[in-house]
Amino acid sequence: MDCTLFHKRQPVVSIELDDASGTIRKIGAVYAQEHLPVGVSVRHGTVDRAALNAWWADRAIPASRSGIREALEHLEITDTKLLLPRCYGLSLSDQYWICPAGSDLTWDAVNFFENAFSDDIGDVLFGSRKQAKVLNFSSPDNTSDGNLKKRWKIIDGCRCLVKGGSDPFRQQPFNEVIAAGIMERLDIPHVPYTLMWDQDAPYSVCPDFVTDELDLIPAARILQTKERPNHVSTYRHFVQCCEALGIRDIVPFLDRMIALDYIIANEDRHLNNFGLLRNAETLEWLGMAPLYDSGTSLGYNKMPAAMRSEKDVICKPFKTRHVEQLQLISSLAWLDFDRLADVPALIEQTFAGSAAKRYVDTERVHAITQGVQRRIGNLQRMALTNRPAQSVSAENDVTEDVAAAYSEQTMQ
Ligand SMILES: Nc1ncnc2c1ncn2[C@@H]1O[C@H](COP(=O)(O)OP(=O)(O)OP(=O)(O)O)[C@@H](O)[C@H]1O
Ligand SMILES: [Mg+2]
Repeated sequence: MDCTLFHKRQPVVSIELDDASGTIRKIGAVYAQEHLPVGVSVRHGTVDRAALNAWWADRAIPASRSGIREALEHLEITDTKLLLPRCYGLSLSDQYWICPAGSDLTWDAVNFFENAFSDDIGDVLFGSRKQAKVLNFSSPDNTSDGNLKKRWKIIDGCRCLVKGGSDPFRQQPFNEVIAAGIMERLDIPHVPYTLMWDQDAPYSVCPDFVTDELDLIPAARILQTKERPNHVSTYRHFVQCCEALGIRDIVPFLDRMIALDYIIANEDRHLNNFGLLRNAETLEWLGMAPLYDSGTSLGYNKMPAAMRSEKDVICKPFKTRHVEQLQLISSLAWLDFDRLADVPALIEQTFAGSAAKRYVDTERVHAITQGVQRRIGNLQRMALTNRPAQSVSAENDVTEDVAAAYSEQTMQ
C-alpha cells in the first residue's frame, strides 16, 4: 500500500507498506525531514529505512501483550503490525498517522482525540469473540504499547486508558493508585489513576495526558537524539540529550522519579515508561511527561517473605540495583517526609473490601505496607546524612562510604 506518513496535518514522507508483513518496503519523497519520528536519521538525503521500520513496528501491540495470541487467532491476523493500517496508525499518545495514496482523508476527520472510535478491538483484546468479519477496526487499541491487557475507553467524554493486572495477585491496578497517591503527596507531576472493577476483576483507569497538540516521546528515543560516547552512562547521556533539547530541570525530575521508584520498589521503569512531551506542530520541547505506569512495583509478583528480603527486586533504567540508582539523586531537600505519614492508610484503603482481598490478602497488604515504610525510613536516613549534591558529571565518583553506609541501612 502506498501512503504518506503524516504528523498531524503535516505530510512527512511517502512510504510503501508491504501488505503481507506490514513493514515499510520503500521510502519515497521526504516532505518535512524535521517531522520524522525522533531518532530516525537522514543520510545524504536518504531516510534510514531500518530505523523507520523499527519505529513503525514499535507502534504495534507488542507480541508479549497478555492475550494477544488468542486475539490475533480470532482476528485471523498473523502479526500485530497488520492492525496498524486498519486504524491509519493513529494513536492517543502522539499525532502520527498514515494516509493512503489517493484518499482525501484529513487529520481533523480521522484523529481519535476529537473523533469517536470503535470498541470492537478493545472488546477482542478483553476476550470478546464477536464475529471478526463485522468488526470495526478504527481504534487506538491497535497502536497501544505495553504487556498488560489494556484498552482505550471514552468515559464521560474523557479518553481513558483501562489497564488490568497480571495473575495471580492482579496487583498492578492497585499499585498505580498507591503510586499516584504518593506522587500527589510529594508534588511529583503524575498521571492520576483510579480503580475500576469489571466482572470482579480490578482495572486501573487514567486519563489520556496527551492532547491533540502533543507527542509523548519516550526516553528510549530521546537517547537517540545524540551519539553516546562509550564512557558516558545512560543517565548522563539522557541528561545531556534533554539539555541539548532545551529541557530545563531534568535533574530535579529524575531525582523525584528515582526516589519514587525506590519507595515503591518499582521493577519496570524501562526507557518507554517515562518520556518528554513535545508540541507536534512547532516541535517545541515542553518538558518531562507526568509519570505514568508505576504498577509493576510493591512486590507485585512476590510472596510476602520475598518482599521482606528485597533481594530480587529488579531496578531500571539507569542501574540494576535500587541502592546504586539512589546514588544518582542530586538532592532530596524537596522531599517532605511528613507528607508521607498517611501512606500506610492510603495502602490500607486501596486494598480495602472483599473484592480486593480475593486477590491481595491481609498478609500481603501488611508486607506491602511494611516494605514501603522501611524504604521511606531508609530514604529519610539518607536525606539526613546531608551528603553534598552529586554533580551529574561526577556520576561515577559517588563516594564509597555513602554507598556502603546506605547498603548497611537497607540490611536492617
Ligand atoms: N495516560 C496516558 N496517556 C497517553 N498515553 C499513555 C497513557 N498511559 C500510557 N500511555 C502510553 O501507552 C503505553 C502503554 O501504557 P503502560 O505503560 O501504562 O502499559 P503497561 O502494559 O503497564 O506497559 P509495560 O509493558 O511497560 O508494563 C505507554 O508506554 C505510553 O506510551
Ligand atoms: Mg509501560
